[in-house]
Amino acid sequence: MDKLVIRGGQKLKGEVTISGSKNSVLPILAATLLTDEKCVIRDVPALRDTNTMFRILRSLGKTVELEKGVVTVSGSKECGWVADYKLVSTMRASFCVLGPLLGKLKKAQVSLPGGCVIGVRPVDLHIKGVKALGAHIDVEGGYVIAHAKRLKGAHIYLGGEYGSSVLATGNVMMAAVCAEGKTILESAACEPEVADLGDFLIKMGARIKGHGTPIIEIEGVKKLHGVAHTIIPDRIEAGTFMVASLITDGDITIKNVNPRHLGALLDKLKEAGAVISESAMSMRVVRKKQLRPVNITTLPYPGFPTDMQAQIMALMTVTPGISVITEKIYPDRFMHVAELNRMGAHIQREGPHAIVEGVRYLSGAPVMASDLRASACLVLAGLVAKGTTTISRIYHLERGYENIDTKLQSLGAKIWREKE
Ligand code: EPZ
Repeated sequence: MDKLVIRGGQKLKGEVTISGSKNSVLPILAATLLTDEKCVIRDVPALRDTNTMFRILRSLGKTVELEKGVVTVSGSKECGWVADYKLVSTMRASFCVLGPLLGKLKKAQVSLPGGCVIGVRPVDLHIKGVKALGAHIDVEGGYVIAHAKRLKGAHIYLGGEYGSSVLATGNVMMAAVCAEGKTILESAACEPEVADLGDFLIKMGARIKGHGTPIIEIEGVKKLHGVAHTIIPDRIEAGTFMVASLITDGDITIKNVNPRHLGALLDKLKEAGAVISESAMSMRVVRKKQLRPVNITTLPYPGFPTDMQAQIMALMTVTPGISVITEKIYPDRFMHVAELNRMGAHIQREGPHAIVEGVRYLSGAPVMASDLRASACLVLAGLVAKGTTTISRIYHLERGYENIDTKLQSLGAKIWREKE
């Protein structure tokens, strides 16, 4: 297993091109199960998670070819319907094959995803949605077993105690596009990745209105066909590089980014002292002399994204003053706090709040990655820390960031891989 070694202190300068969005491509790959025809998907990032989804599609009988970021998924008449435990347990997003399998085959057997370090990760909203469409659900041996004589459109409220659910919205959309009649999803997730999935389904012949807003209307159709589609840029990778520029007092131009997907983050980074010049699909990020502390509360889109909480916490550890970070989506998403404190940060956890008191500098140390965004946070901390930081278990990082070490090296970072 590899570890990442970072010698801090370099001001990162130059240009970086953002990859396609992990959280958009995963449900879109699952949506290819809705047709036997060929689907061509461009700007697919090379990640552990996309490889896992390729394996799941192949296990269900699909042919999946990958050529320089372009994935071709071709059908198979005898498509399987069982997504097994060993694949689903490695990646929770695999659960979003439930909807398309039900939509296409009227049956599915999908392993319940385990929890993970950021929380219990329930699927009750997914189940509520497909049941409302007429699916019969059993839970046996750790599997959700679903089947339906027919799927019928329904009016479904999909809000949960933590607000809307991104993948539940995607799963239910993919089951509803072939249901008979009209479906209305209320309190649907509004993330750009949900909108991108909706665009993909419409290209396949689905009839959808309101995707990307809290109310989605779907008119069921009989059949969906193959498509070609380009994945939207990864707004969380873009946000991570914006913080990399600020935390190292650098000057990074980020290409292939849609500023409209980053409203809440841009607002907070400007409040902290970022100077951002935007053009159609790129942003140049530098900082004013002194950064200022900001208070953050994570919320469903268009609120501040929970997937950027750890990264902005890294920035606040070296920003003079006190900032309070409140995690409302995954109240336990603070595995990075202990590791940052080992690097000299002053962070106090109070339930869903982390109180960060900025310090003059962090010190490099051996640290351990625990989940995808916590790993990114530790990379950012290592870039600014005095001395050398080694990050172990970087397979977490490789789940969601394509070539992050080479991208950072091209910006002047002293970062390299070593065998554990
Ligand atoms: C998606 O996960 C993302 N993953 C996550 O990104 C992201 O953090 C999350 O949305 C929130 O934005 C992908 O898109 C592959 P949710 P998802 O259902 O859909 C609760 C990353 O770092 N909930 O929107 O699984 C849940 O516990 C990953 O890239 C229920 O209560 O998240 C959470 O508190 C991490 N019941 C809240 O809703 C359900 O049935 C939001 O979760 C489903 C979710």
